[in-house]
This record gives sequence, structure tokens and C-alpha cells, in this order.
Amino acid sequence: MIKAVRGTSDLLPPDTDLWNRVEATVRGVFARYNFHEIRTPVFEDTQLFSRSVGEETDIVSKEMFTWLDGGRFSESTLALLWRQQNENRFPVEYQVPMPNSKRRVDAVARSANGDVLIEFKVRPYASAVISIAALRDIWKSNHPDSPVTARLVVPRSLRAGASPLLRTFASARGIEIEEVPLLDFEPPQSLTLRPENTAGVVRAYIEHGLDKEGTLQKLYYIGPQFRRERPQKGRYRQFYQIGAEIIGPPSAGSESPARDAEVLEMLATLLDEVGLRDWNLQLNSVGCADDRARYNKALHEALQPVVHQMCADCQRRAETNPLRVLDCKHPEDQPIIEKLPKISEYLDEPCREHFAQVRKMLEALNVPYVINERMVRGLDYYTRTTFEFTHGGLGAQSAVLGGGRYDGLSESLDGPKAPGIGFAIGEDRLILALQSQGEQLVEKVQAFVAPLGAGMNSHALKLARELRRAGASADLGDETFRLKKSFEAAEKAGTKYIIIVGENEVAADTFAVKNLATGEQVQVPRSQLVEYLRK
Ligand code: HAM
Repeated sequence: MIKAVRGTSDLLPPDTDLWNRVEATVRGVFARYNFHEIRTPVFEDTQLFSRSVGEETDIVSKEMFTWLDGGRFSESTLALLWRQQNENRFPVEYQVPMPNSKRRVDAVARSANGDVLIEFKVRPYASAVISIAALRDIWKSNHPDSPVTARLVVPRSLRAGASPLLRTFASARGIEIEEVPLLDFEPPQSLTLRPENTAGVVRAYIEHGLDKEGTLQKLYYIGPQFRRERPQKGRYRQFYQIGAEIIGPPSAGSESPARDAEVLEMLATLLDEVGLRDWNLQLNSVGCADDRARYNKALHEALQPVVHQMCADCQRRAETNPLRVLDCKHPEDQPIIEKLPKISEYLDEPCREHFAQVRKMLEALNVPYVINERMVRGLDYYTRTTFEFTHGGLGAQSAVLGGGRYDGLSESLDGPKAPGIGFAIGEDRLILALQSQGEQLVEKVQAFVAPLGAGMNSHALKLARELRRAGASADLGDETFRLKKSFEAAEKAGTKYIIIVGENEVAADTFAVKNLATGEQVQVPRSQLVEYLRK
């Protein structure tokens, strides 16, 4: 049996009724706050995420589903083309085993000047040069008397070929490069299933010149995201986010602390309306780019005497991006992390003032929060306000949602200055939290139409059609069912009423309607049926 892949799952009824109700509620809330939907592609150029979320984050360094989209061109096609062009020039053997090694070389050409070892590479990197140089050295030591050279065969087109850097690197190691001209060859592109949606929204904002409108863009999205995390309750490899972003030029008010307060107040309203109780808002400010640079320097210094006791990731991050040391989950590293400086001590005056304003407005709005100075969020693009809402019903993965400001993100993706703030709710976790409160929703069908006897299917279909067109929900039995089976089917469907469609009913245009809960049965004329069901 083929099963759903680890970390993914099927959403089935009746759970999907609850998912749909949540989505309908949030769409209603978004509309009242003047947010409009954006749908971006599920996969994007890998660079979009490495440049925005950050190379050193867990998401980019460990969790992305990334692949090379090679188009229609592969190394075996390159080999075939090369073969057609060279077959008659000298004898060539393909996939030749290396002496005293498990490795093979793509081809060996027996030329007048000795053996030529050949590897075919569609995307030539330095590692290919190193690899073939090693093969040549093995070959040489086993054939000391015959001359041997090594060559990388690569495609040449307008958009592909060996870079000058690669040529220098290769020639320093005595490796030849041969280019096969291919007019329409496009190098493969690295693509990634989106691990989050903010980067895609900002890319779309830049790509479509939405800044030209001069107003705030208030955009929301609902859709799947993908991270290769270790699956557990509340943590999946395909999960769903409900997110929103406010982004625009500073002249439209995008930098104002009022945006932060508006977003947080909307979230409080949204969670109240979907029925989540006892959520907890944790708030922090991670400052602007300058504050972060000073904080990173302070962290770097504070880590020097202790970092050798920490995990390998921390040791690397201490050098490359010290802030990300705070994301470490290793229990042994936590006491060290606890003692590191806090970002709040490094905020400059405008950032402090911005945060104070946000807090003041939240208090005026009666939105409760707690300050959590350790919360720096696992994505690099954040500036100033960051936040998470947690819920006790979730266990270890307690964050229902996370978000914050990203004032420099657009510029870092070569866009205009466009400060922004947003959030993403983990929809799977929101549903789990609602279910932990005992929330279960089954949308019950209002009536079950039961044809009784041969020839009654089309009459029942016609009646069901009228009810459905008038806005009532109806399910349908079959004329082959005996009355008992129709009642059982109606009960399974969870309906309140069963409507019998027999020969007499059709002749009288009046139907027997039975309330399954009370057992009460009445005759209702066709014209009054919809109204009766609404009672
Ligand atoms: P994030 O904190 O990485 O932020 O994710 C937001 C929420 O998505 C988390 O709080 C959690 O509820 C849910 N989530 C994350 N990973 C998983 C997973 N593997 N399984 C189930 N749920 C998960 C962002 O994604 C930012 N783009 C939010 C944002 C929008 N910031 C500004 N604008």
C-alpha cells in the first residue's frame, strides 16, 4: 500500500468542516480590516529564501525542499552529443572502471597523445575539477608509462559555460575544459518549495511594482508551506499557514507603530472570533539593522570564551551570524545561551521609542501581552517588533503564530524602500488548539430525500434539486432502498429531517417529513418545504 509521505497528511471530513469554518471566519475578519488575498506560487527560485530568510537559519540551512530543475538537458544528453561529434576521431570507452577503486570515469579517449579521461558536467563547479584531478592521479599511478590528461566537457550557450574563475582553477590543476556549443541550452535552475510566504509576497510586490500605487498593500494568504523538519505533534513537513502582510512606502504610513498595533489587535480579534481561548501574546523588539550589527558584535565577543563547549552549529554561527546561536535547541547549550547579552540592551533611541509606542497602543486597545526578550524568531529579515502567540493546548510546539516587522526586506531583494509587518498562523496548530478545547464541527445536512419504490429516483432528484436551489442542503437516497435502509442512511448523514418521496406523495405534491430526533411526522406541501426545513 502506498502511504502519504512522512510529515504530510490527508485532511478528511469532519475535520475539514472545522478547517473551512476557520478559513471562512478569517476571510471575514481580513475583509473588515481591508486586507485582500494574494496567491503566490508554491515554489520559487531558491535564492529568494536564502537572501531573505537567511543562509544561517535552520529553515534555509537544513529544512528546505530544494532541487535542480534541469529542464530537458542532462549529463547523459551532453555525453551523447559529444559522442556524435567525436566518435570517428579516436576510440572512446564509456563508464570505465578506475584501477583499484570503486569509481568510474565517464569516458576514456585513446588519442595519439595518450589517454584522455573525460567527465561530462552540465553545471561545472570547482568540485568537478578536484574530482577529475583525483581520478587522473589514480590513473597515472596505475599507468606510469603512458601519458594521461584529464578534461571536463561542459555545455556552452548564451547562459551557460565555464566561468573565467573555473578556467583558472582548472588550468592551475592541469585540467582541460572542452565546451560543446548548444544554442538553446539553459542551465538548470535551483528551485525550492516555499518554506514560508513572506518572501514570495515581497517578491511579488517588487515584481509587479505595487509600490507605484503609493498606498499600503494589505495582503493575506492561505496555503501550504514546506519544511523538512522532524515530524511530531504540531510539526509537519507540509503544513498550512494563514498569513497577512502590510507593506508600502513610508509615506503611506508603513513604518508607523500604528501598523504594528493594528496587526496585533486584528490577531486578537481574529483568534477570539475563531473561538480560541487563553492565547498568550509574547512581544519583543529586535531593533534595526544597526542595532543588530552591534548586538551581533556583542554576542560574538560574549561567545568567544564559551563557544568551544557548544554544538557544531553554534560554533559555526558564532562566526557567521551570532544571532542564530539563540535558535539552538540543544539542551546542553541552553545555560550558556541564558547568560548571553539581550537584544533589548542594544536598541537605539528611535527603535526604543517605536516599541514604546506599540506597547502604549496595545494597552489602550486592551490587548494583553508579555515581553519576551529572548524571542528573536528564526528568520533573518525581522526588524523592530517581533511577536508570537502561544497556546497551552499544543504541547512542545506551542506557537500558534509568529510574525513581526521586516523594514529592510524589500531592499535586500533589490526592491524599493518598503517597510512591512506581518504574521503567519500555523493553521494545523490553530485547529489542534481548537480541538484541544473540545471544538468539533460537523456541518449537518438539513434533509435526506428518500425515494420509495421503483421509478421514484427522478422525482426525488427533482425535489432535492428544488431544495438545494432554494438554499437548503439535502442528501439523497435511492429507490432500491427499503424504508428501513433509507432511515439508516439518513441517520448516518446526521440529518434532522427525512422526506419520503413515494407514489402517493408525488401524486398529491405533498410529502411526509419526519423529524428524526423527535419522531414527529407531518405532511408538507411542496411549496412550503423549504420554509419548513428552516424551522
Ligand atoms: P514562522 O514562525 O516560521 O514565521 O511560522 C509561523 C507559524 O507557522 C508558526 O508559529 C507555526 O504555528 C507554523 N509552523 C511553522 N513551521 C511549522 C511546521 N513545520 N509544522 C506546522 N506548523 C508550522 C513565518 O513563517 C513568517 N513568514 C511569518 C511572518 C509573516 N512574518 C512576517 N510576516
